[in-house]
Amino acid sequence: MGEVLVKIQPPDHPVHMPEPAAFSAEVESEIDRHLAKYPVKRSAILPLMFIVQRERGYLDPPGVQYLANRLQLRVTDIWEVATFYSMIQTKPVGKYHIQVCKTLSCKLLGADKITKYCSDKLGIKVGETTGDGRFSLSEVECLGSCGTAPMFQLNFDYHENLTTEKVDRALDSLP
Ligand code: FES
Repeated sequence: MGEVLVKIQPPDHPVHMPEPAAFSAEVESEIDRHLAKYPVKRSAILPLMFIVQRERGYLDPPGVQYLANRLQLRVTDIWEVATFYSMIQTKPVGKYHIQVCKTLSCKLLGADKITKYCSDKLGIKVGETTGDGRFSLSEVECLGSCGTAPMFQLNFDYHENLTTEKVDRALDSLP
């Protein structure tokens, strides 16, 4: 009996793969510099993700495809890392992204109150963005600042030992 070959479509190669994102020569050389630092390309995954996120606002499918090509990884490898880290966005977010820690220490010390205060102040629910695209509100798992709970991360800055007054100061002082 002759051998039967069955061709299976790998899960990371959907039928309609997006065109990879394109970047300026400056961004490409920034990416090249990061890649040159590591003996193994995949080690540059996080710095490259931050660059793609900075350039495109979040990791969209063309950005993910670009990363897979540059890092010689599968698209699923990129998504696995992207969805693990709360600082990598896989959906569009506002100019300012508030990520309130909802894990135990923060929970016990008033995270729910902080989340509700932000929600009421901005007029959005968790997972939403204000109509002007300025603020997004999320809840995330422990951000490693349990000793200064409750806290949130506002873009890349930590705001700790939060009170409603501190939330006002942090949000009202933004440009
Ligand atoms: Fe909130 Fe760890 S529990 S930072």
